[in-house]
This record gives sequence, structure tokens and C-alpha cells, in this order.
Amino acid sequence: MKEIGVGVIGTAFMGKAHSLAYAAAGTAFGDGLRPRLEMVCDIDPEIAKAKQIEMGFARSTTNYMDVINDPKIELISVCVPNAVHREISIAALNAGKHVWCEKPMATNVPEAEEMLAAAHNSSAQTMLGYNYTQNPLVQSARDLIQEGVIGSITGFHGIYDVDNEADPDRPYSWRMNREASGTGANADVMCHLVSMAHYMTGSEVNRLVGDYDTVYKTRIDPQSGEERAVDNDDVCSALVHFDSGIKGTLRVSRVAWGRKCGLRWEVHGSQGMICHDQERLNELQLYKRSDDPRQQGFTTILSGQYHEPYTAFLPNAGHTLGFIDVKVCELHNLLCAIAEGKPAWPNFGDGIKIEKVMDAIDRSALSGQWVDV
Ligand SMILES: NC(=O)c1ccc[n+]([C@@H]2O[C@H](COP(=O)([O-])OP(=O)(O)OC[C@H]3O[C@@H](n4cnc5c(N)ncnc54)[C@H](O)[C@@H]3O)[C@@H](O)[C@H]2O)c1
Repeated sequence: MKEIGVGVIGTAFMGKAHSLAYAAAGTAFGDGLRPRLEMVCDIDPEIAKAKQIEMGFARSTTNYMDVINDPKIELISVCVPNAVHREISIAALNAGKHVWCEKPMATNVPEAEEMLAAAHNSSAQTMLGYNYTQNPLVQSARDLIQEGVIGSITGFHGIYDVDNEADPDRPYSWRMNREASGTGANADVMCHLVSMAHYMTGSEVNRLVGDYDTVYKTRIDPQSGEERAVDNDDVCSALVHFDSGIKGTLRVSRVAWGRKCGLRWEVHGSQGMICHDQERLNELQLYKRSDDPRQQGFTTILSGQYHEPYTAFLPNAGHTLGFIDVKVCELHNLLCAIAEGKPAWPNFGDGIKIEKVMDAIDRSALSGQWVDV
């Protein structure tokens, strides 16, 4: 297998997830490019050094330009807070490097447009971390929908609840600040739900009305010890219209106690329904209309070797995949895109469509009006 040198910028939840995926992709798939862990970067020098050793990188740095300028590195992971995605992605693309950037793409549409322009000016590939669409079982659900198993699509309805910020005593962080994060639950979790809505329906949201709630209006700033205003949303909802003509509902919260990764969605069809819950990521619920009402009910489909690329990890059904396995699938799609010189979903062009929906939700929630995307 041909090798590709990789660098990871940012070393927390996502920096580690990308590093685990790089370490596993060659072994899991046995084809395409095999990542070689060249350099890891974190702004904190102690963390950078510690992560280099822990995660098995050859070198570490505190300056992301070292990663970008390194001739041994061809692919760069952007796993830093949202406000830094733009400058790092653009610098990497301008240097001809492929970019695997975490979601959301940026903190606002103009920034995302600059990133897309840099991608258009480069022959490098891009990918965004909308990992939930990369689950083999979810991809199989999409195939079933496209094959007409639930008839024609009549609606998409989704919820993404988490309890990351549900504790009112949770301190202030960059995620609660418009400048550093963009919007709140909208930027952090709604973007995943929109990616799922676009992916599963094969159609894009084009008109909507949105609504916000900031449940906890102030938080204690750990630096100053004083109360600081939260200037973005804890809860975000939207009634949405798609360009295919279907309608739907989207609702997310970062203050929903008990929901750990509560991404739940349903695609309604004229002959049935298909549903998924990320907290049970190996199970799909399928309802097919039957002429005999005694046989009607949801079927639970367990992930298995019939849902490729499941067998990259396991030979038998029921042994279950996890979040990192799905991240490996996402990376494999990017590695294939690089090897073949063909874009994979979701690249920056797909990402900007998601950003525009989040922006429309923001405009609508602030104005109280229906808006076009
Ligand atoms: N795809 C997913 O499911 C998913 C899940 C969680 C987070 N994310 C996204 O991943 C990104 C990172 O999230 P996280 O939870 O890992 O964040 P985090 O805030 O916990 O960690 C960010 C890391 O980046 C480092 N950093 C900050 N600025 C830097 C700079 N200029 N140069 C180098 N390092 C820098 C920090 O020291 C820290 O290690 C965010 O954009 C977030 O939205 C995606």
C-alpha cells in the first residue's frame, strides 16, 4: 500500500478521533492509502509533546504552519475550535494539502465561502466531519430509500439532543460565544442533523422558519470567576421545506439532560418509514406497509456483513461498530477520493449548503420570519 503523510492540528476529542482513524484505516480496509503519522500540533506545548508520544506521531509542534509547511505531510486534520477552521484550512489548501476539517465548516457563511474558494483553487480534496452519515447501516438505509422500499419520501423529521451543557453550573466556554463558535446548538449539533437531512433525502433545505432559546443566559467564566453572558442558542428548532417539495422538522438542544448523543431521525415514505437513533447506532428501524394489519410493525435490523463496509472491521453481524469505526469509514472515503482524484461526500461544496441552512435558521430565529436559504 502506498503511504500518505498526515498531520493533526488540535488534540482533544476530535484530534484523538482522527488520530485513531489514521492508525486504523490501513489495517481495516487493506486498500487505498496507508496513513503515516508525521506531526501533531497543539497550541499548548505540554499537550503537544504528550500527544505525540501517546498517539505515536513522529514529531510535534505548537505552530500549525509547521504542519502545513512540512514536505512529508500531504493530508491535514483540522480539529481545533470552529473559529480557527477557516485560517488553517485555507493555509493548508493554498499549500496544496488535502484537508479533513471538523464540523461545522466555519463560524459563518462568508468564512465558509472563503474556504470553498480556496478548495476550488486547489486540486486537493476536502472532507468535513459529518461522521453520522458515514455509518454503514445509515448508508444502507439510504440505499433502501433510493430503491423505493418505503415508497416515495414524504417527510424528514429529526432531533439531536445532548446534555453537554445541561448543568446550569457548567462553566462558560468558547462554545457559548458567537465570535469563537458561531451560533450555539445550531452550529454544534444542528449542522449534523442538516447533514443527515440532506444525505438521507438526497434533497436540500431551501426555506424555513427557525426559533432559538438560550435557557441559561449567563455562565461563570473560569478565568475571571465572574458571570458572563451566553450570546448564542442552547435550543434551536426549525420547520423546513426541501427543494424536492417535502417538508420536515429539525430540533436540537445542548441542554437536554439524559441525552448523550441523541441524534434521532425518521424518513417518512408513502409505503413505510425508516428510523435511526445514534445512541443505538447498530440498529435500524424499518416499517413496511403490509396488506395484513396483523403483520404490521417495525422491524429492527442489526448491523452486519450485509451493510458494507462493515466487513472492514468484523466478519459477523451483531458484533457492532462504534463511533471510531465510523470515523475510519469517513477517512477511508477521503483516502479513496485522494487516491482517485475524485471528490467524496461531504466535501466543502456540500458543507457550504449545510452552513447556509444554519445561517438561514439564525436569520429566521433573530427576525421571527420565514426565510429562503
Ligand atoms: N464530528 C463530531 O462528531 C465532532 C464531535 C466533537 C467536536 N467536533 C468538532 O471538532 C472541533 C474540535 O472539537 P473538540 O471537542 O476536540 O474541541 P476542544 O476545544 O476540546 O479541543 C480543541 C483542541 O485544539 C487546540 N487548539 C486550539 N487552538 C489551536 C491552534 N490555533 N493551534 C493548535 N491547536 C489549537 C486546543 O488546545 C485543544 O487541544 C470543533 O470544531 C468541534 O465542533 C466534532
